[in-house]
Amino acid sequence: MTFALASRTRRMNPSAIRDILKVTERPGILSMAGGLPAPEAFPVEAIRRGCDRVLGTQGPAALQYATSEGLPGLREWVAQHLSRPGWQIDPSHVLITTGSQQGLDLLGKVLLDPGAQVLVEQPTYLGALQAFTPYEPDVMAWASDEDGPLPEALAGDPGPAVAYLIPNFQNPGGQCLGELRRMALAQSLRRGHTLLIEDDPYGALWYDTPPPAPLASRAPQQVVYLGSFSKVLSPGLRVGYMVMPSGEGDSARALRSKLLQAKQACDLHTPGLNQRLILDLLQGDFNLDAHLCAVRERYRIQRDVMAHALATCLPHGCRWRVPPGGMFFWVEAPEHVDTLARLPQAVEAGVAYVPGAPFFSSVDAARQNALRLSFVTLAPAQIHEAVARLAPCLV
Ligand SMILES: Cc1ncc(COP(=O)(O)O)c(C=O)c1O
Repeated sequence: MTFALASRTRRMNPSAIRDILKVTERPGILSMAGGLPAPEAFPVEAIRRGCDRVLGTQGPAALQYATSEGLPGLREWVAQHLSRPGWQIDPSHVLITTGSQQGLDLLGKVLLDPGAQVLVEQPTYLGALQAFTPYEPDVMAWASDEDGPLPEALAGDPGPAVAYLIPNFQNPGGQCLGELRRMALAQSLRRGHTLLIEDDPYGALWYDTPPPAPLASRAPQQVVYLGSFSKVLSPGLRVGYMVMPSGEGDSARALRSKLLQAKQACDLHTPGLNQRLILDLLQGDFNLDAHLCAVRERYRIQRDVMAHALATCLPHGCRWRVPPGGMFFWVEAPEHVDTLARLPQAVEAGVAYVPGAPFFSSVDAARQNALRLSFVTLAPAQIHEAVARLAPCLV
């Protein structure tokens, strides 16, 4: 018996990162490969108490089917939490999603026809490439300079349909887009016809100064903002959110209603128990600000230890910048080093990383000599040893 698969599956590829993570589960490997938050940062006790409270006070209602838009109280919290001068968010424009990853898929489904032009940073989040490619868009490298993606790339008639950007502590690059470039990008968006997907799972993880205001607050009619509780509370709860573009024109209304229909078709709704639990934590005696301060302090120490280890151990010719937030260092080894080919040697030496190539939209653009290192999952005492094991593999 043979089965015919849809032609779009030809564009679907296994996640290179998941394959690598399998290797890192071997005993004795110090892994800097994962994109996972530190488990020690999860508020386990607060979540246990929250579950008891939610089930105790709301009982069966917490276990029932729920609305596709999301829990009204949680949508209101998101709207209030993000609103600021120039960006007053209507809670009805907030869609609760099953992680921000689902937001990327819904946007691909609703916005991308085959051949539609999508601009992405180089490198960019692998999961976004995976979400978009089945819809067969023309994924293009967003031209950039040292301050980030160029506003000029959004010009043209009609210009790219969609641009995808991670402005805060990018995955994998670690960089944060500055105020001036945000202003310039927002201006170009307001003038053109491109819809920007602003993906912001790391904004709360800043170690020096908080990031500048989101692009969505500067061009609310041209930006879809994606947020997530994954890096703030727990990724296993799978709760994220999307702030859909404001505006009462036909296209803004159509976009909002089609996104909701796509969400209905996808999973009916994000788990209601998890949404209620998160709302309980946000409104109860759990102090999110204090929790985030503690997580930032923990990650800042790990970042500083890795910065020191890289500076003392890595061979001549390796380049990196200390990320001002997030979870990753992006390292460029000397040109001749193919980090994918060197991975078995690294694993043999007891260390793992993610090679840089999969983070690029095309093989031609890929920097084979780059690698991504997470600094949040190893204890400070292990980070130095991990980098010391890595160093000989990058010569
Ligand atoms: C840039 C970026 N966007 C989206 C996601 C998906 O996050 P979530 O757990 O909210 O689905 C990740 C996860 O690592 C990410 O790095």
